[in-house]
Parts: sequence; C-alpha cells; structure tokens
Amino acid sequence: MSDRILDAIKNRRSMRKYTSDPVPTEDIETILTAGMMAPSAMNARPWEFVVVQNDDIKQAIAAKHPFAKFIPQAPVVIVVCGMPEKERAPGLWPSDCAAATENILIQAQSMGYGTCWCAIHPYEKRGKDLMPIIDVSSTPFCLIALGVPNDTPRMRGFYEPEKVHYLK
Ligand SMILES: Cc1cc2nc3c(=O)[nH]c(=O)nc-3n(C[C@H](O)[C@H](O)[C@H](O)COP(=O)(O)O)c2cc1C
Repeated sequence: MSDRILDAIKNRRSMRKYTSDPVPTEDIETILTAGMMAPSAMNARPWEFVVVQNDDIKQAIAAKHPFAKFIPQAPVVIVVCGMPEKERAPGLWPSDCAAATENILIQAQSMGYGTCWCAIHPYEKRGKDLMPIIDVSSTPFCLIALGVPNDTPRMRGFYEPEKVHYLK
C-alpha cells in the first residue's frame, strides 16, 4: 500500500464541523469516481448518488435523522442509495454500497476534505422518511457529509494485534 493511501486512511476521522467553503463540482466528481470504482458483488454496481447542496433539503434531512443534526452545516451531503433490484448476488447490495462509501471517505480525505458517514440502512424508517425529501425510488443506504474540516477531533482508529489471527 502506498504511503499516501495509508496516510489518508490513518488521518480520516468523522468530521462534524465544517467551514462554509464550497466544494467545487470537479472535486465532487473525483470523489464520486472513487465511489463508483469500488468493488461490487458480480460487478452489479447497485448504487446511485444524490448530491445535496440545497440548504432547505439539508435541514429536512437533518430533521428526520436522529444522529445527523450537524448535516446542514456541511456544504455537501451525498446520499448513497442502493438498488436492490440490480444486485446479482442476493443480499449483497448493502455491502456494495458500503464499499462505495468507504472509497468516497478515503478519496475525500486524500483531497483535504472531511466527511462523516451517517447510517440510514438498515433502519427502514430513516430510509422511508428520506426518500420523498431527496426524490428517489432507490433505497437510501447512508448520508455522507462532505466539506472543508473545521475541527480536529481525536483519532479513534488503531491497530489491535490481538484481533489478527495468522493461520500458517
Ligand atoms: C455504519 C456507520 C454508521 C455511522 N452512523 C453515524 C451517524 O449516524 N451519525 C454520526 O455522527 N456518525 C456516524 N458514524 C461515524 C462513527 O461514529 C465513527 O466512524 C466512529 O465513532 C469512529 O470515529 P472515526 O470515524 O472518527 O474514526 C457511523 C459510522 C459507520 C461506519
């Protein structure tokens, strides 16, 4: 693994405070490219992405999510949506969406942006509440807040050697 990728992985942390700096469209597209380059079971790619930059819609999303009250201050919210009808291996669309989500988080970090993954799936009510707000018929998987960081939260990830089991 290159040092650059490991640095992005190590330095990523959930960001819940953002500056008001906008995220240029070309950066959003680069970040979404990383999402769409994620692996998916049998290459089904059962996802789509809603990019929310409208303040009223961000407020409406935050009002429906119990743990995403900070969402309106992020300049961009990406809603990762799954398309269960497109999955090719039964039951794996959430795994595919999770892979896309993590790619987005790491790519954004490598470009100097902060992110926070907020769960929708498997909480059905959260998804159903969200669908009319973002006007999709696909299944909301998660929210990703995206923007220029305005905080330095402590790093929470760490290596735990006791969780590694070598079978030689
Ligand atoms: C599946 C998943 C769901 C999460 N849901 C939320 C959420 O609803 N709200 C939130 O503020 N953070 C959420 N998080 C962020 C976690 O709280 C965070 O990743 C964890 O505390 C570790 O901190 P770090 O991301 O800074 O390493 C979620 C993370 C994951 C992976």
